[in-house]
Amino acid sequence: MKRAIYPGSFDPVTYGHLDIIERAAKNFDEIIVSVLNNKTKTPLFSVEERVNILKEATKDIPNVKVESFSGLLVDYAKSRDVHLIVRGLRAITDFEYELQNAQTNALLSKESLDTIFFATRLEYAYLSSSSVKEIASFGGDISMCVPEFVSKLVYEKFGYEKK
Ligand code: PNS
Repeated sequence: MKRAIYPGSFDPVTYGHLDIIERAAKNFDEIIVSVLNNKTKTPLFSVEERVNILKEATKDIPNVKVESFSGLLVDYAKSRDVHLIVRGLRAITDFEYELQNAQTNALLSKESLDTIFFATRLEYAYLSSSSVKEIASFGGDISMCVPEFVSKLVYEKFGYEKK
């Protein structure tokens, strides 16, 4: 069975993430979307909220599972007996960071964990969770960035009524 982990902060999940999840799910028997529980960051959504949002957003893709993890990705992947990480690449600006992470994870796992990259579709190349939060914090339109139920939850966090 071909399984892969798609890790990330997903704060919040965007159409760009969902596109990667859909495409990865077509190429693997199981995709585990794994939300990092990073105690050093102050996210907009708690890890439980992010997991629930992702579960709702991927409910129609049967081979997608959503979990959270903390600590090192290599340890988490080992605990799930998974040897492949999926990440999206939007632009050259992502490349250095992603390459460094992929190489570090390969080293830490003694070469038992590989990373595979999906090129982000052009229409989502500009999208990031950070820009979604910034736009929403000023009451701007995020309907082209996230599903409607997510945009409602984001606006609620910033004290706005549904747009
Ligand atoms: O969505 P993000 O914030 O770009 O995802 C980054 C993530 C979660 C993939 C990365 O920060 C990660 O794997 N963190 C877990 C800690 C870890 O294993 N660090 C070593 C890799 S260099």
